Amino acid sequence: MKQHKIVLLSGDGIGPEISSVTKEILEKVSYKYNFKIHFVEKLFGGKAIDKFNKPLPDETLYECKNCDAVLLAAIGDPKYDNIERGLRPESGLLALRAGMSLFANIRPVKILPSLISASTLKPEIIKNVDLIVVRELTGGIYFGQPKGCIETESGKRAFNTMSYSTNEIERIARVAFKLAGERGKKVCSVDKANVLDVSQLWREKVSEVSNEFKDIELSNLYVDNAAMQLIRNPEQFDVILTGNLFGDIISDEAAMLTGSIGMLPSASLSTDGPGLFEPVHGSAPDIAGQNKANPIAMVLSAAMMLKITLKEKEAAAAIEEAVNNVLKHGFRTPDIMNESSIEVGCKEIGKELLKEFD
Ligand code: IPM
Ligand code: MG
Repeated sequence: MKQHKIVLLSGDGIGPEISSVTKEILEKVSYKYNFKIHFVEKLFGGKAIDKFNKPLPDETLYECKNCDAVLLAAIGDPKYDNIERGLRPESGLLALRAGMSLFANIRPVKILPSLISASTLKPEIIKNVDLIVVRELTGGIYFGQPKGCIETESGKRAFNTMSYSTNEIERIARVAFKLAGERGKKVCSVDKANVLDVSQLWREKVSEVSNEFKDIELSNLYVDNAAMQLIRNPEQFDVILTGNLFGDIISDEAAMLTGSIGMLPSASLSTDGPGLFEPVHGSAPDIAGQNKANPIAMVLSAAMMLKITLKEKEAAAAIEEAVNNVLKHGFRTPDIMNESSIEVGCKEIGKELLKEFD
């Protein structure tokens, strides 16, 4: 029997609730499809700060680098807002991305017919949306040097640096072109090349890489226009390729096309190490512990993990189908509720999903 070692980081806020649903589903699915998952649970984020005074303990990073895949729920809580930035949960996430060399962040956005009314946009604008944001995750302004805050004669001055090297641009561009080759055969690269030097290099290198992929159509948009096009006509996009900061913004915007960020999974991949799979949403401390969280994004992240890294394709497809069925039956958490549905909590969605594997 195939065995997989998964590090589970359940994190903060709603993290433990959605993790427990996801873990139960993975256990049942693995039994049904004849493989075994060994879960190694580690502290990360706020919980790690409380115990070790740092968001990413060495042992957690070590385990994450020495497993088959990492499944992360969410981290963060306002109670850490006032501590030194390097010790906050978000810094742990950046350190984990850097430590595992997770340069490619893949965020698919697809409209499920049963949820079309959950979107704030008109159904005719979004009904065929099926796009993927490919965001560079270990470079750009998130990591660029120099950065800091200095005293000057006229007061403090703070700065960050947006920088990309040829190699960083080329490797993320190849991820986007390869993905496009498996689907709609279009890449739209998003930058700010009319203003930024870093974007000019980005555009030049993406265009060079596109020569290796003759059957893929490349277009370029400035990020302001891309933000507008995403709500004007989102169906025009197949794969959106962009840097770290623009990708952060564009991927939240793209996520909201579906009406709830609580539905969307993501994968962060390195060249040959384990990948990390996590929902796009955050830890939602305002609803933590109230059985209101939508576990679907994490469940679908687990499906991505099964498909991309563990090569358990049938099990992955079965999870996706189970999610569709439960939604079709009308079960909804508050974030995606409408008049004709049945409002249930996180645990109940979990139970309904489990029934699909009886
Ligand atoms: C995301 C998040 C993170 C980011 C934060 C929590 C550091 O917004 O994964 O999109 O900015 O990358
Ligand atoms: Mg974000």
